[in-house]
Amino acid sequence: MKPFEAFVVGVVGTGAMGRGIAQLFAQSGHALRLYDAAPGAAQAACTAVADTLGRQVEKGKLARGAFEATMARMSPVGALGDLAGCDLVIEAIVENLDVKKRLFVELESITGPEALLVTNTSSLSVTAIAAACSNPARVAGYHFFNPVPLMKVVEVIRGARTSAATADALVALTRRTGHAPVVAQDTPGFLINHAGRGYGTEALKLVAEGVADVPTVDRVMREQVVFNGSGFRLGPFELLDLTGLDVSHPVMESIYRQFYEEPRFRPSALAAQRVAGGLLGRKVGEGFYRYENGALVAVPEDEPTAAGAASFARVWVTAGPNQGALRELVVALGSTVDDALRPRADSLVLLAPIGLDATAACTDAGLPAERSVALDTLFPFAAKACRRRVLMATPATDPALAAAARRLFAADGARASLVRDSAGFVAQRVVAMVVAVACEIAQQRIASPADIDLAVRLGLGYPTGPLSMGDTLGAATVASVLEGMYACTGDPRYRPSPWMRRRARLGLSLLHAD
Ligand SMILES: NC(=O)c1ccc[n+]([C@@H]2O[C@H](COP(=O)([O-])OP(=O)(O)OC[C@H]3O[C@@H](n4cnc5c(N)ncnc54)[C@H](O)[C@@H]3O)[C@@H](O)[C@H]2O)c1
Repeated sequence: MKPFEAFVVGVVGTGAMGRGIAQLFAQSGHALRLYDAAPGAAQAACTAVADTLGRQVEKGKLARGAFEATMARMSPVGALGDLAGCDLVIEAIVENLDVKKRLFVELESITGPEALLVTNTSSLSVTAIAAACSNPARVAGYHFFNPVPLMKVVEVIRGARTSAATADALVALTRRTGHAPVVAQDTPGFLINHAGRGYGTEALKLVAEGVADVPTVDRVMREQVVFNGSGFRLGPFELLDLTGLDVSHPVMESIYRQFYEEPRFRPSALAAQRVAGGLLGRKVGEGFYRYENGALVAVPEDEPTAAGAASFARVWVTAGPNQGALRELVVALGSTVDDALRPRADSLVLLAPIGLDATAACTDAGLPAERSVALDTLFPFAAKACRRRVLMATPATDPALAAAARRLFAADGARASLVRDSAGFVAQRVVAMVVAVACEIAQQRIASPADIDLAVRLGLGYPTGPLSMGDTLGAATVASVLEGMYACTGDPRYRPSPWMRRRARLGLSLLHAD
């Protein structure tokens, strides 16, 4: 085989993705040939790349010599046959199986027998695209993300008949561009779109269940959850609005159907209804939020008020691993600890369940529900060391007492959210589902644990990889959150993957491969 640096690269389809892919390879020193069925489109793509790179030259971020060398490597061509000498042809045309299949058969007849033929499809089966080819071993998926030069991860997708040599060559070629290759099997959603299902789907489930409203779920996910000192940059609904529900809801439906109605991916009726209503997100000015001149119209958070205040003399803290830290917090926030064996009649009862709802946590322990509230202790909650605390009340909790608890837990300047009863509050549920989906991807051997974490960090921008998230919280803790939700709801979407159960029992990292 030719040395990789000498590979001539062809791009078919020079729209949003094709032109980004062409830019990446041209900047890495490859000769590029660009073809598009629409007359003038390949030339327009070259002009668009020249404009983008020209702006970088003006800003002093790119040397003029490098700009000129890159542009000299990019040649628009007028016919598919002009791709004859290419060593790698990357297809980025319309997302239609029949059209792509026809193109690959044609490419086979044009290119040399060694050429690699790859598709940038995001949702079609690579195996199905390759099925019509006489040599499917040299056909693979090569899934880039938009915008290509900035999204520094590429999925190399192995179809059922893709050879190891083809996948290895794509990995080596990708490394030359500076992007990170991850290898995944040809399965619905591949790796990143599959792994991204937990975050939005569980958030929609929380809102559909009435646990919290949209802005509260977003605030909790942005401000309560912290890994390695940072959190999720966007709440799940902000993200859905940015992507557009007309894009993300069909992806959810497609992955659910392709996995034969796997309950983990069950889409939300709430989302379907909003798509039908045209509430698609930022691009139409209204989605889960409203947008004015492209900017989100912030929804002000209600403040914990003193009106109708019920009060409590002390706070009685439930037994458990965090009892000491919670008692310290109560004192630091200016209240008093009730250290009697059973709560006094005028005490607030503070519960700290992991994966249980407040109702189960108080009734199991025979505690008075009307005086009980629960605090989420899975994420940082110490005085002056967290941005947001999340409280949860039972349906029987005195609302005035819950409001007073909310005031107390905001007394150090942190924000406090009060949500309705839920096995796993808000963040425990969403994070546990993100980890659960990643464990199932690992269990199915779709990708290696290290590639799952790398791909999700780079492709979805999560603060750390989902398997590392699970390790930080403890595999056994995440499994108990899921088991608690399963027990409370009976919904099999919450069953933990065998990958997680076994590693939790054995005390192994979720990144441990076997
Ligand atoms: N846009 C994204 O965010 C994104 C991300 C990852 C993957 N993808 C995938 O990449 C592919 C391209 O997406 P896009 O967003 O760049 O689309 P696009 O509509 O911007 O561009 C597609 C281009 O392909 C050309 N074309 C269509 N049929 C052709 C044919 N038979 N032969 C030659 N040219 C043809 C069109 O003229 C157009 O210029 C799709 O398979 C899509 O699913 C898109």
